[in-house]
Amino acid sequence: MTKPYEDYIEANRKNWDDRVPIHVSSPHSYDIEGFIDDPEKLTLTARFDSQFLPDLAGRSMLHLMCHIGLDTMSWARLGARVIGVDLSGESIRVATEVAERASSNAKFMQSDVYDAGDVIEGKFDIVYMSMGVLIWLPDLERLAGVVSSFLKPGGLFHLTEIHPVATSLDVPSDDQQLRITKPYFESGEPLVVESDVSYVRGEGKIEHTTTYQWLHSMGEIVTAFTGSGLRLTMLKEHPFGGFPQGPPLERKPDGWWEYPHGPEMVPLMYSLQAVKDGR
Ligand SMILES: C[S@@+](CC[C@H](N)C(=O)[O-])C[C@H]1O[C@@H](n2cnc3c(N)ncnc32)[C@H](O)[C@@H]1O
Repeated sequence: MTKPYEDYIEANRKNWDDRVPIHVSSPHSYDIEGFIDDPEKLTLTARFDSQFLPDLAGRSMLHLMCHIGLDTMSWARLGARVIGVDLSGESIRVATEVAERASSNAKFMQSDVYDAGDVIEGKFDIVYMSMGVLIWLPDLERLAGVVSSFLKPGGLFHLTEIHPVATSLDVPSDDQQLRITKPYFESGEPLVVESDVSYVRGEGKIEHTTTYQWLHSMGEIVTAFTGSGLRLTMLKEHPFGGFPQGPPLERKPDGWWEYPHGPEMVPLMYSLQAVKDGR
């Protein structure tokens, strides 16, 4: 039965708040202490995405759905004046604390992405999103409208995200075979996901185990970011991803995970860019 959007989002917010202590205590995944100790350090995602972005020195940047903000602070380390936004108050609390300890000038605000215009003023050179974000949002055209509303004319939107094909696949048993475990196409109705674990291991317990997630096909994603005054300028699919999604995946020396070369090779991640009309 369909619930009001606020009910879905409140359930998701509680779940993300519960995940924060787990992620904070995950030494090999987020590694907050290592990030603070080494002022040159950038996250894996930021190192990867910087190849697609212009020189960030002095540019204004808005990072939507920033979680605990290490990517956001990486952009600040590369010279951006950056604000991170997230639904989870715990994520924003930790991000703000880490920014203080790391002497980062990144700023953080709590908001649902669709309401970000209520808490953030101004227009930005770059709006950025990455890795595990679209699945939490029911309406991508509405998201594109939010992105567009924050961009200066000629401004750049960048998204690096888990590929919807990878979202459909999993290795549910020990047989090391990839199986289609979720539909590829969107249905409008959320998937109701029950889980008491996060994607990284750490200390803490997820008490709020029910989340609501929305599948989006590549066609839906591309179509959304060609509307709202945005012009699609790049779509790259990558045969590697950020998570050890099942036993066949192997970690590459650069930190990304890939299927060993063979017939099962599929896109695991993609990067998309769109530019706001006008200048
Ligand atoms: C998978 S995490 C993003 C991970 C991030 N790229 C990183 O590497 O840390 C997804 C984030 O989206 C946030 N989120 C979920 N739904 C949201 C919404 N409606 N508005 C804003 N943020 C949301 C969650 O709180 C969570 O911090």
